[in-house]
Amino acid sequence: MVTKEQVVDLLHKIEDPHLHRTLEETGGIGEITIKEEKNHVSVKIAIAQPNTAEQMQLQQEIVNVLKGAGAATVGLRFEQLPDEVIQQYANTSGQSEGGSLLESGDTTFIAVASGKGGVGKSTVTVNLATSLARLGKKVGIIDADIYGFSVPDMMGIEERPVVRGEHIIPVERFGVKVISMGFFVEDNSPIIWRGPMLGKMLTSFFKEVEWGDLDYLLLDLPPGTGDVALDLHSMLPSCKEVIVTTPHPTAAFVAARAGQMAIKTEHEILGIIENMSYFESKLTGQKEYVFGQGGGDKLAEQLQTDILGRLPLQQPYEEEDVFAPGVYQADHPTGKIFLSVANKMINKME
Ligand SMILES: Nc1ncnc2c1ncn2[C@@H]1O[C@H](COP(=O)(O)OP(=O)(O)OP(=O)(O)O)[C@@H](O)[C@H]1O
Ligand SMILES: [Mg+2]
Repeated sequence: MVTKEQVVDLLHKIEDPHLHRTLEETGGIGEITIKEEKNHVSVKIAIAQPNTAEQMQLQQEIVNVLKGAGAATVGLRFEQLPDEVIQQYANTSGQSEGGSLLESGDTTFIAVASGKGGVGKSTVTVNLATSLARLGKKVGIIDADIYGFSVPDMMGIEERPVVRGEHIIPVERFGVKVISMGFFVEDNSPIIWRGPMLGKMLTSFFKEVEWGDLDYLLLDLPPGTGDVALDLHSMLPSCKEVIVTTPHPTAAFVAARAGQMAIKTEHEILGIIENMSYFESKLTGQKEYVFGQGGGDKLAEQLQTDILGRLPLQQPYEEEDVFAPGVYQADHPTGKIFLSVANKMINKME
């Protein structure tokens, strides 16, 4: 059981990441609530620059400290310090410029979208990225599915990104640099994200992550046409899109909405990937169209684009030494399809 006094004591020593002053000096610790029956501690924290990469690191630090002191769960809410306080402590350490990735024009952004969930966006994102890297391209992934992040698990990533000064160094796996909300959420514990913070989170994934030179940055979008998708569309005026659908005609109808959104925001649709197109019997080689047929073609026609590839239902090979449950190997039949899709995309773009 933690007491308010303990919480204050522990947090007083922690520094505001931008002002480099302790929270005691800045007066950054706000209301503290302790729910005894659940051993839950919630704290309001004010810092100079909320919604930044540094906030994420600070969050983690505070959660760790409070759990170390015996709290079962921790809820944090961040707000900005009053201007006077920031002025008082603001030093000369100027803000790094950031945003070069968005402004340089050397990186092609590719969003992977769908009309509904579970059709294989993350699978497609991860495997297209890996295939592009296999073809010698410099590739990154932003797992923009803030709530439903799955890229780290699919790629079997266990390390966490390092934060260096004002920048986050993405984790690299199979030659692909990855950033995901999953890296900043401790064992699925709920950190409170309010609506406006989501967009800011995404902005910091672009601006505060040290991507280096990238040829392609793939974005795994959350399903549907909600806020995050909209934020992204407006953040990246020249983004390309790949739309994933299953072969069922009604799935294509739903996916068309994602396509319409791309068209409205003037994003170029590179093509359609029809996933779970068929199941091929290992014994007879016969294809069964388990989820129906025609969805991809119908969508391609509606959006006036091509089908980049059709993926069968199949799992990656199981490997003993490499754990990445969502990545198809280069010599796997599905891995080969992804490679040909990646080639087609490169030809369309370069
Ligand atoms: N071609 C395939 N063969 C076998 N399993 C697949 C295939 N494509 C996707 N899956 C599996 O289906 C599930 C859903 O896929 P995935 O997570 O990629 O979809 P998603 O569109 O990103 O879902 P969400 O909307 O929840 O983010 C996963 O468990 C994935 O491993
Ligand atoms: Mg997904």
